[in-house]
Amino acid sequence: MIDGTEIWSEGAPILGIETSCDETSVAVVHGRTIKSNIVSSQAELHRRWGGIVPEAASRAHVEAIVPAIDAAVQAAGAELGELAGIAVTNRPGLIGALSVGLSAAKALSLALSKPFIGIHHLEGHLLSPYAVTPQLPFPHVCLLVSGGHTELVLVERLLEYRVLGQTRDDAAGEAFDKAARILGLGYPGGQAIESAALGGDPRRYPLPRALLTKPTLDFSFSGLKTAVSRLAGREGSNLNVTDAAASVQEAIVEALSVRAIDAVRQAGARALTLAGGVAANRTLRARLARECERDGLSFIVPPPELCTDNAAMIALAGSLRLAHGESSDWSLEPEANSPLPTN
Ligand code: KG4
Ligand code: ZN
Repeated sequence: MIDGTEIWSEGAPILGIETSCDETSVAVVHGRTIKSNIVSSQAELHRRWGGIVPEAASRAHVEAIVPAIDAAVQAAGAELGELAGIAVTNRPGLIGALSVGLSAAKALSLALSKPFIGIHHLEGHLLSPYAVTPQLPFPHVCLLVSGGHTELVLVERLLEYRVLGQTRDDAAGEAFDKAARILGLGYPGGQAIESAALGGDPRRYPLPRALLTKPTLDFSFSGLKTAVSRLAGREGSNLNVTDAAASVQEAIVEALSVRAIDAVRQAGARALTLAGGVAANRTLRARLARECERDGLSFIVPPPELCTDNAAMIALAGSLRLAHGESSDWSLEPEANSPLPTN
């Protein structure tokens, strides 16, 4: 087992590559310090279809990856030759999109004679709080909320994970995205709902908080989408979109917060971390900060730009795993679905 503080102080920089979905991102991380983190978003490209088109995403990654590598190395004031290794997301995600980053990592590894390591995207999110603290308390619970996943993970020790609860249907980010589409707020939906909700009344439209009365740490958000759809149909042009957005946000934030605090209590942990794209949401961050303070728990959340997809979190995870003596070989493939690694 490796100790957090000891690894961060040593070694040469690591290059991180993330192309699992609709962001082409490349970062250089030295120890725990983020030297550069270039994120080239495809949001504009996919907006016209109201969601991600996998084929278009792959092509956009192909165009963006080499310039992003150049930009990240240059912004870090680094040289490719001084890298200790390359970390790349190889799972889970869109196969075509993942393949672009993985091919780039393999090519760099071959050309530079440096090791590379495939990283699980969710492990990147889970380790992103290290960007703001040299050490995380163990055990802690991570509320991991993104566009594809909603999980409560018990981190027993460094790189050792146990899933305590997860969504039974839609992910929290997906719920934001679907509600935004119904309310005509566009894509991507999380940020659109957050902006539209400003000044709105979160109690105006009662929406379901599924499973909150049940003895489980799981989530369910598909009923929320149906309820928002019915609400929009019933109210028609009378719908107050600001209040509707605030009510949707409140329903999701409440379901996530109540379960996260339950999980910390049940696991006997003293700390909660928050990660993934939905962790950028200010209402969620503020509510969890308040509840953790009330209960005497530490609460750690990275800045919003490190919550949404980025390569710095992948480089941080790679830095730990390479220091752990791990690396990948040429047979490494992209995987569309893959559970979180449990050591
Ligand atoms: O982690 P992420 O960038 O990509 C995945 O791994 O899925 O998460 C993307 C999700 C999207 O569903 C997006 O709507 C949501 O995170 N999101 C937000 C906010 N910013 C991004 N949800 C709520 N509030 C936000 N400010
Ligand atoms: Zn993500």
